Parts: sequence; C-alpha cells; structure tokens
Amino acid sequence: MSVRFASSRPDSPDALVLPVSKKGGIDAALDGLSEEVAAHLRRAAQAARFNGDTASIVEIVTDYDGEPRRVLLAGVGSGEDHGYENAGGAVAAKLLTSGEKTMIIDASSDSSTDTGSRMAYGALQRGWRLDRYRTRQKAKAKPTLRTITVVADEDEAGRWAAHEHVFAGIAFARELVTEPPNILYPKSFVERCRPLEELGVKIEVLGRDEMAELGMGALLGVAQGSVREPQLLVMRWDGTDGEQNKPLALVGKGVTFDTGGISIKPGPGMEDMKFDMGGAGAVAGAMRALAGRKAKAHVIGVCGLVENMPDGNAQRPADVVTTMSGQTVEVLNTDAEGRLVLCDAMHWVQENYRPDVMIDLATLTGAMIIALGFEHGGCFANDDGLAEQLLAAGTSSGDKLWRMPLGKAYDKLLDSPIADMKNVGPREAGSITAAQYLQRFVQDGVKWAHLDIAGMVWMKSASNLWDKGATGFGVRLLDRFVADNFES
Ligand code: BES
Ligand code: MN
Ligand code: ZN
Repeated sequence: MSVRFASSRPDSPDALVLPVSKKGGIDAALDGLSEEVAAHLRRAAQAARFNGDTASIVEIVTDYDGEPRRVLLAGVGSGEDHGYENAGGAVAAKLLTSGEKTMIIDASSDSSTDTGSRMAYGALQRGWRLDRYRTRQKAKAKPTLRTITVVADEDEAGRWAAHEHVFAGIAFARELVTEPPNILYPKSFVERCRPLEELGVKIEVLGRDEMAELGMGALLGVAQGSVREPQLLVMRWDGTDGEQNKPLALVGKGVTFDTGGISIKPGPGMEDMKFDMGGAGAVAGAMRALAGRKAKAHVIGVCGLVENMPDGNAQRPADVVTTMSGQTVEVLNTDAEGRLVLCDAMHWVQENYRPDVMIDLATLTGAMIIALGFEHGGCFANDDGLAEQLLAAGTSSGDKLWRMPLGKAYDKLLDSPIADMKNVGPREAGSITAAQYLQRFVQDGVKWAHLDIAGMVWMKSASNLWDKGATGFGVRLLDRFVADNFES
C-alpha cells in the first residue's frame, strides 16, 4: 500500500474515511458533505449506537454520479495517539479485500496534529501481509486496497516520511518472522539484510570459522546439530558523523528454527518456532527504521543467527561449553539455546564496541508468556533509569513492556556442580533465571536491559494493527527509545 497527500478532499467515488472523536462527536466530521449524505450517516450512526469508541466503524454506501461510494465514520476514542492508529487500522481491515482500491482519509475537521497521518500509519500496519506463497487465491480474497490519500497540509505531508520508514522497519521484521524456516535460515537472513547497505548501514558478518577462532563455544554448540552455517550479523548505523563514538548496542536472538535440539520439543505447536528469530527480526527492523529516517544516533545491531536441530553431531544434555567470555556452561537442556546464542553475541559486541547501553531482545522463554500473556514484553534491567526509558517508549509506541525483577537469589539457582553455571534453573521463575544467565555476561559499567518478547512477536488473532501472525514487535519500541533518548 502506498500513501499520498492531497491538500483538499479529492472529488471522486473512492471510499471516504472520516474520524470521529468522542469529544468532537459526529457533526464535526460531517463538514463538507451534502445534507443528504450527512443525514444518512447520522441515521446509520444512531442505528449502530456509534459514539466514537476507538476503532468502531459506521459504513454507508451513497450514490456518486450513479456509482456507489462508501463513506465511513471511524471512532478514534478520546483522541489519544493510538486511537487514530487503531481507527486507521480498523478501516484498512474492513476495506482491504472490499474491492476498493483507494481510500481517502480526511481528518481536516480534527484539530489535533497529524491525525490523518496517524490513521494512515495504522492502516499500513494492518494492511501488511505476505502473499508470496499463495498461488491459488480466490479473486475475492485478494487485497484490493492499494492507495491511501491523506487530506492534509504540506507541513503534515513533510512529517510523513518518518512514519513511512518506521513502517518499513515493522514490515521488514514481519517478513523475516513470517518466512518459513526452509527459506529463512542464518545465511538467507543475512542476505535479506544486505539491502540495508543502500541506506548507509555497514554490515559485517562472521561465519563458523571466525566464531570458532574467537571462542564462541556456546553459540557454536547450538549450531552444531544443523547443516546450516551459523552467522553473527553486525549492522551499524552512525547518523552522528562519528560524534557518538560509543554506540547503543542492540542484540537479537536469531534462532531461525528451534526444535529444542536433543531435548526435543513436542510435535504439536513446534511450527511456531519459526518465529524464534523474532528478537533478531526486531533488531533488523529497527536498523531499517533508523537508517531510513536518518536517525541522529549511533546504533549497532547484532544478530546471533543459528538453527537448533537434533542430529548425530548435535550437542548433548550434560555437554560443557566454553563461551567467548571464558566462562564455562553446563548445557543441561539443549532447548535453552537462546541464552547460549545471546551470551556470545553480547560478549562480542561489548569487546568490540564498548557500548554504555546494551539491549537484547529475544523470544527466550515460554514462562514469559505464562507470566505476561500476549499483552506485554518482559523488561529486565540492571539500571532503573534505562528500565524507565524503555517502559516509557513502550507506552508511547504501543509496544508495551512490563518490568520484571532480577536478584542474587535467582542467580544462585544457576550454579553448576561441574562448570561455572548451568544453562537452566528450576522450573519456577524460568524467565528470571534466563535473564540472570544473560546478566553474567554483562560487563562492569554497562547499562543493560533484556526484553523477553516470547509472547509478542506472533499473534493467533488479528488486532487493529496487525493481521494474525507476525506483529513486528520491538521495532516501534526501539525507534521511539532511540528518538527520545539518543537524538536530543
Ligand atoms: N524459543 C523458546 C521459548 C519460547 C517458547 C518462545 C514458546 C515462544 C514460545 C526457548 O528456546 C525455549 O525453548 N525455552 C525453554 C527454556 C527451558 C528449557 C528452560 C522453555 O521456555 O521451555
Ligand atoms: Mn528452545
Ligand atoms: Zn528458542
């Protein structure tokens, strides 16, 4: 879908979308319509008991020179930011396969800023889908909606590009998460990221031999049951002309498929584990967004890319591996592989770039979903200020986070009788002990946060901002976090 701007409402039979806030009521939105159409909308709104609730819709069909024209009222609630995004998304869901090719969003009756753009931003998010593998789609099931025309002034049009780039980042993350694991594996993930170079992102890739040379025994232990070569993908965006010499470090778990390895997962539901690279997807998507909008920040995104498979050469429960940091790990459960991948990626970025702030994102534990469901990602942090910045970015972007605890007593649960630590604790507090494991690889003075997004990257049902499937969680969050804290 593409978005364009018009300074006044085009005179055409294309679907017309008018936002209605609870405060403004519907009369404000009816400006510029014929008395007949306005009366029709009023009656339809009354019949539907429409009161402007967020994402509620009233649709009528009117006559336009003998052609049918849809006119829709879209509730934006009390006018808060996400009300507009959600309303735009709800309308896109309704019109996506309706036969309409273009929708006109006219928010000029609404005096808050960038209302039409925010609706278009929501519509783009809701309209995204991957149809590459459908060759027999019925004509009626195919998306028809291609263009969004936003009626707005030049200033608003000028501010649009940032939204467009963040959306491109979200779409990129969703694509990576959605692609099947026979298509998207460590090397092909890297290839998908190559085009970021055209935006000014510097890419560096370490393969199996380089990682072996550096002693990344934990990451390589996970990869050793797979015929797919693991990759450490490093993407660097510097929008500060070298002024911020210490970059913000983002580290993503990129397990392109997680069978569990020898500690194999049960069959039913295993297909979900194609999304076990959602953390890496969020990091790649954030790099796309930041470079696209030329963010004035220096950010390094590292993705630990491996496939976790059972095989004659796979690692065994009870193996002891040596991490790049020198610390040894007793691998008691080969399904607790994400932390093994992350610990070497985190160590590598700290050794090479000495960041002050490091954030990792990972679909790390099923226990995180038991704790927070599908509403919040878990945020673990060794610094209260960083945690607050992330939670605030979560609230304002819509990618919500909830703070989780860390502590010595949890850390102790990882002590091993044979090595420096085990890779799993007891069943209880599984998300917290996973975070404690990662904290053992955080160097002195580094402000670190771990975002366990296991429940957030894939949804079984649609919402206003996504169809069922990949959400792109983390991209809006990281973009906002960088904008608010690194670009001042
Ligand atoms: N990728 C999974 C976590 C996961 C599970 C994410 C379900 C999303 C949905 C992770 O690698 C894993 O298998 N974790 C284990 C840890 C356990 C062995 C300590 C888990 O959560 O069961
Ligand atoms: Mn696993
Ligand atoms: Zn996993």
